[in-house]
Amino acid sequence: MMMRAEIGQNSKQIKAKRDLSVKALVLSGGAGTRLRPITHTSAKQLVPVANKPVLFYGLEAIAEAGISEVGIIVGDTADEIREAVGDGSRFGIDVTYIPQEAPLGLAHAVLVAQEFLGDDDFVMYLGDNFIVGGITGLVEEFRAERPDAQILLTKVPDPTAFGVAELDGDGRVVGLEEKPKQPKSDLALVGVYLFTAAIHEGVRSVEPSWRGELEITHAIQWLIDHERDVRSTVISGYWKDTGNVTDMLEVNRSVLETVQPLNAGTVDEDSEIIGRVRIEEGARVSGSRIVGPAIVGAGSVVDNAYIGPFTSVSEDCRIEDSEIEYSIVLRGSSVTGVRRVEASLIGRDVEVTPAPRNPKAHRLVLGDHSKVQISS
Ligand code: G1P
Repeated sequence: MMMRAEIGQNSKQIKAKRDLSVKALVLSGGAGTRLRPITHTSAKQLVPVANKPVLFYGLEAIAEAGISEVGIIVGDTADEIREAVGDGSRFGIDVTYIPQEAPLGLAHAVLVAQEFLGDDDFVMYLGDNFIVGGITGLVEEFRAERPDAQILLTKVPDPTAFGVAELDGDGRVVGLEEKPKQPKSDLALVGVYLFTAAIHEGVRSVEPSWRGELEITHAIQWLIDHERDVRSTVISGYWKDTGNVTDMLEVNRSVLETVQPLNAGTVDEDSEIIGRVRIEEGARVSGSRIVGPAIVGAGSVVDNAYIGPFTSVSEDCRIEDSEIEYSIVLRGSSVTGVRRVEASLIGRDVEVTPAPRNPKAHRLVLGDHSKVQISS
């Protein structure tokens, strides 16, 4: 009996040890060739949501789930990603950078990360995906159950732009298709996957798709075809930058609801700050009214202005003699002497000013893929 008890305890210890070794593989490569209004000049994983790169929310969620060993796959934009993330210590994680010589697909990324991953369980996290509420619960469930793969699904309006799952009556995944022309459901694969080492055989078995990539979708389908345990969870609160400004404003709004109020700048006596407002280091607010939730980024100046709810002003911006609400203003931009700006996304180093009175005309210098709505 004694022996048995000891064996029991030992296997418990072994299991506990295994549990500790869940790793994360974060994908931050990609050629950045997709032209989105804002991100075509930098890594899509660094698109800011409430003044913070979308990738950072992912890294924070990974750290919060108790994972510390994180491999980051990098490509053409490696320098930008390294500069932003560093060694990961500020997130409480230990980052290993893994170069992917070309964007040959998500399954290819798993192949190049083989040495880092070893035989450990891992969470694969696409750095441009945003999951409201993090992944702690999912990782805990996975650690306890350890199916071969656990995928996340979410309802999307245009499934043709995603991997799509078909479920049977019991909610079991029966098939997956990558970017199907005729989707079998509106359930898209979210870019967060939980895997045991079983996925390695899958990624070694797939052939390049029509887009020349080794698809993780196909590697998971391989697991399904080989009767492996593939489970799914349907989530809400998912966002990914598809260049849709309405969605970007909406995710900005939902994250601003959770920011911690702060005043690390200066606010003069003629200003009024109402509600959840975050004024970052060195920002200066004078003669203005800011109604939260809102953020004013480090080094920005707000003078004689109104900033309304759900507005994120990034670093080194200037909002002067203007009113702005439900908008995002990226680094180094200025809005001066403009009566009211709403539901707008303003890129980097942009200047918005009134036109001269005569002739009464709009004067526009707009970058590629810009969209302008003028009230006149
Ligand atoms: C990838 C996957 C796709 C998934 C999507 C989520 O698509 O191939 O199945 O739905 O990420 O972000 P990609 O970003 O390569 O177009």
